[in-house]
Amino acid sequence: MGSDLSFGGNFEDKFDRNFDGNYEQDSTLSDAFVQIAESINTPAFIYEEEYISHRCQHLRHIADEAGCKLLYTLKALTLPGVLKIIAPYVHGFSASSLFESIIARDGLPAGGSVHLTSPGLRPDEIERISGLCDYLSFNSISQWLRHKSDVAEKVKVGLRVNPQMSFLEDSRYDPCRPHSKLGASIGQVREALEREPHLQHGLSGILIHNNCNAPDFRELLLTVQKVETELGFLLHSLEWINLGGGYLFDRESSNIEALYEAVWSLKSKYGLEVFIEPGSAFVREAGFLVSTVLDLIETDGKEIAILDTSVNHVPEAFEYQWRPEVLRDVEDGEFSYVLAGSTCLAGDVFGEYSFTQPLEINSKVIITGVGAYNLVKAHTFNGLTLPSIYSLKARRDVELVKEFTSEEHFQRWGFENNVSVGN
Ligand SMILES: Cc1ncc(COP(=O)(O)O)c(C=O)c1O
Repeated sequence: MGSDLSFGGNFEDKFDRNFDGNYEQDSTLSDAFVQIAESINTPAFIYEEEYISHRCQHLRHIADEAGCKLLYTLKALTLPGVLKIIAPYVHGFSASSLFESIIARDGLPAGGSVHLTSPGLRPDEIERISGLCDYLSFNSISQWLRHKSDVAEKVKVGLRVNPQMSFLEDSRYDPCRPHSKLGASIGQVREALEREPHLQHGLSGILIHNNCNAPDFRELLLTVQKVETELGFLLHSLEWINLGGGYLFDRESSNIEALYEAVWSLKSKYGLEVFIEPGSAFVREAGFLVSTVLDLIETDGKEIAILDTSVNHVPEAFEYQWRPEVLRDVEDGEFSYVLAGSTCLAGDVFGEYSFTQPLEINSKVIITGVGAYNLVKAHTFNGLTLPSIYSLKARRDVELVKEFTSEEHFQRWGFENNVSVGN
């Protein structure tokens, strides 16, 4: 068994990583992970509780320093155990749908606020959504005008404004790409309100969100400055602004003072309550996908390792063609492999990786940094099971949270419970 192959190496370094907390290096960690990987059913998604707690403390500290309120955007990773860790640190949760707003309401202590925005708000769900939410940001002027009177009175009604400031090269991530569906363009909003000032009656806030995995808060400051220039007259009459997510909140090169300046400006000039709603920043580095090597084959001079997982368990890597990080992958390692998933899709491949020791059948391979936007999008193409979900506890023991059964798979597609081969 090559069990120690996929763990160890620079694992301690990975866990001594950059969150702004006092995470103590634990030299027993890599050994513990060897045992964990051997003891669990794969494919498995593991979330690390202590890391999420540290990120919560880090983010809450920044929000407090900035003087803004902190929300967690559920869509990044929506697991009960994860929400339980995050809830005490945040002022609320942000949801994108009726189902998420039910989970958000249920998972928040009294006093926490539920926020929602969606380009696809369904008329038949507005009543339930407005019963669950405290803040609802309409995505377009037409959605707002059509439905503003359908919303319960206690709900603070907002409008998502598209600031038309792009910082992203890949337009698939860019809320401000040309012909964007996300938010009413800032120019349209200004024109509409200048033409018909009475329209803003009942509008209490705006939401802006125009970045993704951005390291540098100077981009947020530029965005806020544009909003102030173009919509300053509106800001004076509002109660709140939500600055969205899209920032990594890492220690290095984040220019955090730019966030403080943006929040201070909005509070001091307009008296606004300011929210931020990161998703990835809470959980991205807290998630691992553990898989087992099922087969090793050689084609056209390269070794292929077939894993018991699939790119469909890390869909962001496939969609955006990035190469996920794998533990013990080293530059110029003697033993190189194409790590491939086990579905029929030819492109179900993670990339080329090299190690200092050879992989064997049953070796464990661990993909890191996949806590956000992967498990929530994973699917079961080819009938491949979803990863079992485990939580890694502070004491380094691991607990099974959820295992997906064949019955659940059959039921999902409308088969009888007792479906069996040959029937
Ligand atoms: C409106 C809105 N707010 C917040 C977020 C969270 O973004 P991130 O996970 O990049 O922080 C998203 C992500 O898509 C979003 O669409």
